[in-house]
Amino acid sequence: MKNFKFYNPTKIIFGEGTIKEIAGEIPREARVLLTYGGGSIKRNGVFDAVQSALSGRTVDEFGGIEPNPTYETLMRAVEMIRRGGHDYLLAVGGGSVIDGVKFIAAAVPYEGDPWEIVQSYGAKIKKSLPFGTVLTLPASGSEMNNGAVITNRALNAKLPLAHPSLFPRFSVLDPKVTYSLPPVQIANGVVDAFVHVMEQYMTYPVGAKLQDRFAEGLLLTLVEEGPRALTEPENYDVRANLMWCATLALNGLISAGVPQDWATHMIGHEMTTLCGLDHARTLAIVLPALWEIRSAEKKEKLLQYAERVWEITAGDEQARIDAAIARTREFFKSLQVGTRLCDYNLTEAIIPTIVERLKAHNMTKLGEKRDVTPELAEAILRQCL
Ligand code: NZQ
Ligand code: ZN
Repeated sequence: MKNFKFYNPTKIIFGEGTIKEIAGEIPREARVLLTYGGGSIKRNGVFDAVQSALSGRTVDEFGGIEPNPTYETLMRAVEMIRRGGHDYLLAVGGGSVIDGVKFIAAAVPYEGDPWEIVQSYGAKIKKSLPFGTVLTLPASGSEMNNGAVITNRALNAKLPLAHPSLFPRFSVLDPKVTYSLPPVQIANGVVDAFVHVMEQYMTYPVGAKLQDRFAEGLLLTLVEEGPRALTEPENYDVRANLMWCATLALNGLISAGVPQDWATHMIGHEMTTLCGLDHARTLAIVLPALWEIRSAEKKEKLLQYAERVWEITAGDEQARIDAAIARTREFFKSLQVGTRLCDYNLTEAIIPTIVERLKAHNMTKLGEKRDVTPELAEAILRQCL
C-alpha cells in the first residue's frame, strides 16, 4: 500500500426530506447565490424546497449552467457575484452545476485571468468562496470531492482541476429528488460511478486489500442496483444505494494508497468535446477497449475483478479476462448504454482529432504508469470501433 493523506471535510446530509436542513448549514447573514442548470429543479420541486428552507434570507439566482459546464457561462456568474457581493454559493443540480460552482468559487477572488485556474489544473487557486450543494443526479461524486471539469468552448478544451479549497462545506443527498431523472441520466450516473471505481481499482496490486474490497463492494452494488433503478424507478432503497455509491466512488476513500489510471476519463473528455456525447457514454466506449489493449499490464486486477465481481473462475487467464470484459460491456448495454463508436454513428474519422487534442492538452503520459502515449491512445480508440 502506498503512503497517503486522506482529508475530506464535506458534511453529508443524507435522506428523504433533508433539503430543509440547508438552513442550518448556511450562515443566516450570508448573501447567497443559488445556482442551477437548465431548469429541472423548477419542475421537480427541488427549487421550491430550497426557497422555503431559505425563506427570509438574501438569495439571488443564477441559472443556465449547461451540462459540461463552460467557462463562458460561468464567467457571467463570476461577474454577477463581483457586482452583487454574494459570499456563499449553493449548487443545486448534478455534477455540471456543482463543478461550475467550484470554478466560480475559485474565480471570484482570483486576481489574474480566471482561465489560468483551469490551465493550471487548479494549482493557481489561492482561496475560494464557501459553497454547499443539493445533489440531484448521482454520478460524478463532485458533491464530496474537490475536483471539477470545465469546458472552454472557444478553445475546444474540457479539462480537470482540483484544489483543497473546493470541497463543498456540505452536500444534501435526498434520493427522492432523483426520481425525476430520465432513464438516460439514471444510466449515465451508474456508468460514471462504475468507471470512477475502475480508474482507482483496475491498475496493479499494491496489497491494498481493504481498498480493493471497498471498490468491489461499490461495483457489486452498482451492478445489482443499476438496472433496478430503470425497472423500479421509485424504489427508494435502490436510489439510496446508488446515490451513496456514486458519492463514495470518488471522494478519496478508495483511491487512498493505491495507483490511479484516469486514461479512460481523459480520452473520454476529448470525445465529449468533439462529438457531444454524454460523459458517461464516452467512458462506456473507452473502458472495455482500453482493457483489451492493456490486459497484460492489468492482468492481476482483471482476474481479481473477474472472480470477485462476476464469479468467473473457469478457463485460462485470458479466457477469464475476456469473459470479464464481455460481462462489463453487457452490463453497460443492460442500462441501454452503447459500448462502441458505431453505436453512436461515429467512425474512425474522429480518432486523429482526439489524438491531436490529447497532445495539445498535455495528456501524453496517461494511466497508472504514465505510459499511455498518444500512439497507445490511438490504438485504444481503434479498439472502440
Ligand atoms: O440542467 P439541469 O436542469 O440540471 O438538468 C440536468 C441535465 O440536463 C439533468 N438533471 C439533473 N438532475 C436531474 C435532472 N433532470 C431531472 N431530474 C433531476 N433530478 O441531467 C442532465 C445532466 O446533468 P449533469 O449535471 O450534466 O450530469 P452529471 O451529474 O452526470 O455531471 C456531468 C459532469 O460531471 C463532470 C463531467 O465531466 C460532466 O461535466 N464530472 C465531474 C467529476 C468531479 N467533479 O469529480 C468527475 C467526473 O468524472 C465527471 O468528469
Ligand atoms: Zn466521470
